[in-house]
Amino acid sequence: MLNGQDQDTTVQGLIAVVNKLILVIIVLVAGIITMPFVLYYGDNTGKEKIEKTAIQFQDTVAYWIAADINTITDTKKKLLVEYGKELIAHTSKYLGPRGSVMQMSNGMNCQNCHLQAGTVIWGNNYGSVASLYPKFRARSGSIENIYKRVNDCFERSLNGKAIDTAGKEMQAIAAYINFLGSNVAKGKKAAGSGFKDLTFLNRAADPQNGLTIYTTKCQSCHQANGEGVFNPEKTEYIYPALWGKNSFNDGAGLYRVSNFAKYIKYNMPQGTTYLSPKLTDDEAWDVAAYIISQTRPHINVPKDWPDISKKPIDHPFGPYADVFTERQHKYGPFNPIIDEQKKKEEAVKQKASAEVKN
Ligand code: HEC
Ligand code: HEC
Repeated sequence: MLNGQDQDTTVQGLIAVVNKLILVIIVLVAGIITMPFVLYYGDNTGKEKIEKTAIQFQDTVAYWIAADINTITDTKKKLLVEYGKELIAHTSKYLGPRGSVMQMSNGMNCQNCHLQAGTVIWGNNYGSVASLYPKFRARSGSIENIYKRVNDCFERSLNGKAIDTAGKEMQAIAAYINFLGSNVAKGKKAAGSGFKDLTFLNRAADPQNGLTIYTTKCQSCHQANGEGVFNPEKTEYIYPALWGKNSFNDGAGLYRVSNFAKYIKYNMPQGTTYLSPKLTDDEAWDVAAYIISQTRPHINVPKDWPDISKKPIDHPFGPYADVFTERQHKYGPFNPIIDEQKKKEEAVKQKASAEVKN
């Protein structure tokens, strides 16, 4: 048993603790009650903060919207543009292995990669083609017009042959692409065209980890061996091939891991948009690494990148203007490569300014 004095000090101690607790609770409750007001009225961004958590993600950019074919009044032009759209959407029906016009490509449709006939924001759309071509491209080291750029995708992405630029098919495709971007000022880039940027990982992308992601998130449509699924008439894909003999070849833009990762992060699995990505950045890079590790057709393009210092950091074929290996250029990590490039640019700048002073 405790004696009287001990009991007193224990009780006093208890009261002190309870008092402190009450104080803490009062402070906490006051804080909780006033927080929304502080967030809402406390500063200009408070309101925005609350709205952002409610809507998850809101983008205020005024993105490009493709020009509307129904506004074309010239019937002849409209028919040509519509045929161009049809060729982009169902390329294989006309130009694939069982094509009704020619057989010169692998069964893919342009819109398998340029979603909804090249109109989707961050879905590799054609918004900036009419406004920016002809333009210099470092891959060929020359100024390219739209015909050349379209034939590049025929030869690489569709692993096929270039088509006659004067022919009806090329004329229709070019008319369609030119019309889509006719509402973008010459020399300007349409907001949301091409691919949305994706942060580099601080490690190499990991094909082994990518296999697990592929199996759980991609295989149900694209199949275990990446071969995809043809429609019953075998005229075009329901789910396009990701590797193997009917896929894009190793000279295609999508063979670069960064393009691939950006494309799938904001567009795959099917139904994904940039507003609702389903893959984490790590997953996008790793599954991209897995898919570009599989076998696919090879194209011999010895004239690509005549100036090797202009090769993109993730172009997986040497020689390079730096000391990094083909493997690191294929899978990363890319930050060391970028840092090295920056250092070189800085050195060039300093040399130039030193020469000006002398
Ligand atoms: C396997 C995917 C794939 C397919 C299929 C494909 N492309 Fe592409 N295309 C790309 C990629 C990736 C780029 C961007 C390349 C880059 O930035 O290096 C591109 C770029 C382009 C561009 C230039 C866009 C710009 O803003 O500079 C045009 C035009 C184009 N493709 C037309 C076509 C046409 C026409 C077809 C069908 C005959 C086609 N593509 C099929 C992947 C594809
Ligand atoms: C629900 C079915 C489905 C799932 C799941 C799916 N895709 Fe796709 N994918 C498609 C379809 C359909 C297209 C063609 C889009 C079009 O033509 O509109 C496509 C196109 C593609 C393309 C460009 C065309 C090509 O064949 O190269 C790539 C790359 C791709 N998917 C990768 C992936 C990856 C990686 C995953 C998993 C993270 C994935 N997809 C999950 C249905 C799917």
